[in-house]
Amino acid sequence: MKRKGIILAGGNGTRLYPSTVSVSKQLMPVYDKPMIYYPLSVLMSAGIQDILIITTEQDQAAFQHLLGDGLKLGINIEWTIQPSPDGIAQALILAEDFLNGAPCALILGDNLFFGSEFEATLEAVRGSNLGATIFGYHVNKPEAYGVVEFDNDGKVISIEEKPDNPKSKYAVTGLYLYDGKAPAYAKTIKPSGRGELEITTLNQIYLERGELTCALLGSGTSWLDTGTHRSLLQAAQFVSVMQERQGRRICCPEVIAFKQGWISSCDIKALAKPLKNSGYGEFLLKIANEAD
Ligand code: DAU
Repeated sequence: MKRKGIILAGGNGTRLYPSTVSVSKQLMPVYDKPMIYYPLSVLMSAGIQDILIITTEQDQAAFQHLLGDGLKLGINIEWTIQPSPDGIAQALILAEDFLNGAPCALILGDNLFFGSEFEATLEAVRGSNLGATIFGYHVNKPEAYGVVEFDNDGKVISIEEKPDNPKSKYAVTGLYLYDGKAPAYAKTIKPSGRGELEITTLNQIYLERGELTCALLGSGTSWLDTGTHRSLLQAAQFVSVMQERQGRRICCPEVIAFKQGWISSCDIKALAKPLKNSGYGEFLLKIANEAD
């Protein structure tokens, strides 16, 4: 069965208040494009065309205004509401009907991944459909994340959510690959002390069953989160610096759709038209003209 994608883009974004009182966090710009374009680009780069986007009820219409049914990008987008932010693992339960037994890639709507090495990592997404795969990344402050511990052979021995005393420097990033059993496992999870169905608990279930793999993302991959004003600004600066330096844009779904052969250069030109007053539209036109 083909892997499907889930983007979790709910939550109240309270760490970004007042900016996110009336705008969803995942619609806020990260430099030149809405935040959700970044996780969407990850799924599309991995070849995933069937995507469920989970939002709050109040924000769904705004997301739909931006992305619609996905047809213009050569993909299929479906929509579901998470009534309240009851935990990341709830996404698998909400997605059960959409998945219909298929394996999936779940990505958090506020996670940015970028880098040539990451492209190779995405090959894993096309690979095995068994068990779960999480992605570890060396960080300075692991206590802010899920933390994965390894034995001497590099085998995962524990995963803890925001531990006071992290057992390693490896954070679990917000990209998770699961086989078709994830919704059933997620339903067995009890709310944690903070009242959430923790994604770490789901990963622990896979670990206990001997069905969890952790792939490490090296320094050739940049993983940024955008949870606070400071990290959001840093992410925007990072995108701006990289794009200016390289003369190309990071995480443009239109370009990825074109490279995947899902839309034509004619389609890109049509998408560029309403964006012609911003550099984004010009960039799309340049890509289309180069291809012609
Ligand atoms: O970013 C990676 C980290 O994400 C992992 O290392 C942690 O293990 C994982 O628990 C998560 O930690 P955070 O503290 O960053 O999760 P947060 O509550 O900030 O939620 C992450 C995103 O998911 C955020 O954009 C809002 C969305 N979300 C979250 C929850 C709990 C939802 O849409 N619904 C939810 O119920």
